This record gives sequence, C-alpha cells and structure tokens, in this order.
Amino acid sequence: MKRVAILISGGGSNMLALVRDMVEGRYARPVLVVSNDPQAKGLEKAADLGVTIAAVDHRPFGKNREAFETALAKEIDAANPDILCLAGFMRILTPGFIRRYQGKMLNIHPSLLPKYPGLHTHARALAAGDSEAGCTVHEVTAELDAGPLIGQARVPVLPGDTEDTLAARVLTQEHRLYPQVLRRFATGDRTPLLLP
Ligand code: GAR
Repeated sequence: MKRVAILISGGGSNMLALVRDMVEGRYARPVLVVSNDPQAKGLEKAADLGVTIAAVDHRPFGKNREAFETALAKEIDAANPDILCLAGFMRILTPGFIRRYQGKMLNIHPSLLPKYPGLHTHARALAAGDSEAGCTVHEVTAELDAGPLIGQARVPVLPGDTEDTLAARVLTQEHRLYPQVLRRFATGDRTPLLLP
C-alpha cells in the first residue's frame, strides 16, 4: 500500500478528506501529517484520527528556507512516504526541495489554474467578473502553481457571492476532488480528472 504524507499549515479540511478517504478505501496509508505551524488546528484533528503528526516551525529559520526545508525533509523522510500531498501548505518551496520529491508531490490550489496562481484567488475571480471558479490538483514542479494538471473541479460564481461564499463553495469541491485524484495517482494514473 502506498504511504502518504500530508503537509498542512492551517485547518486541514483537505487533509481530513484525504485521511478519511484513505482509511475508507484502503488504497493508501496516511503515514504523517506535518505542519510548518505548531498551532495548526489540523494537527490535532489528524492525531485524533490516529495519524502520526509533526511540526517544524518555519519562524526560527527566518529567511533561511533551505535550513527549514532540511528540517522538514528529515521529518518527512522518517515516515518514508511514496506520495506527498500539499493540502493548504502555505510555504513556498525551493527548487531543491521540489527536486527531492519530484514526481511524488501533489498540491491543491483554489482556482482553475492556470488562472490565478498565488494568493487571493477568490477575490481575483470576483474582481474579474468570472462566471465560474474552482480548484485544481497539480503535480508540484519548480514554478509556483504551474505543474501538470491532474484534476480540476468547477463551480458557478453566483450573484451576490463574496470571497467567503465562493471559497466555501470551492472548498466543498476540493474535498471531493483531492481524494479522487489521490486514488488515481496512487495507482500510477496521472491523467487529468475533470469534474463538472
Ligand atoms: C484550501 O482552500 C486550499 O486550496 C488552499 O488553502 C485552503 C486550505 O484549507 N491552498 C492554497 O491556497 C495553496 N496556495 P484546509 O487547511 O482546510 O485544507
């Protein structure tokens, strides 16, 4: 069974969707949930589900991203994962770290990439007057939010939407999309899954 490590920074709702789906589907095993923020709410939730947790606080490392990543990689490698899922992990990774896990690392992003890489995706979609929004799972490569697409789900933008209402609608689809993509990826299938 494939071993999966999940990297989070916050609430971890995507992480929970992934862990629950792995527990239910038995196609992969969640071996670690690690956060760059020791206070991340998701850590406790992962521990409640019996998953090993770790935290590597990025703050003491200051601008030294490599040193932070060395400490992070040590935790990850101790769990010996086959697949790494970034799930609301909000640190930019260096090319060195990405190379180390090349071909094994997925990310979920709350926009229809290639639209709106980076932050504030929902505000940007609303400001642009887009009629639809969504989320994307992609392989992580050195260029931010630009690796090969392996899954996408779309939602309508509705009249009166705010950043919060749109984010909530997209997040529901994230929870549906990411586990389905992981199931396929765990069997070696990287063809894009396009959900309506
Ligand atoms: C999700 O919407 C995820 O797509 C986004 O952060 C949220 C995390 O929520 N990720 C990014 O913006 C990555 N650049 P969660 O902690 O509840 O899964």
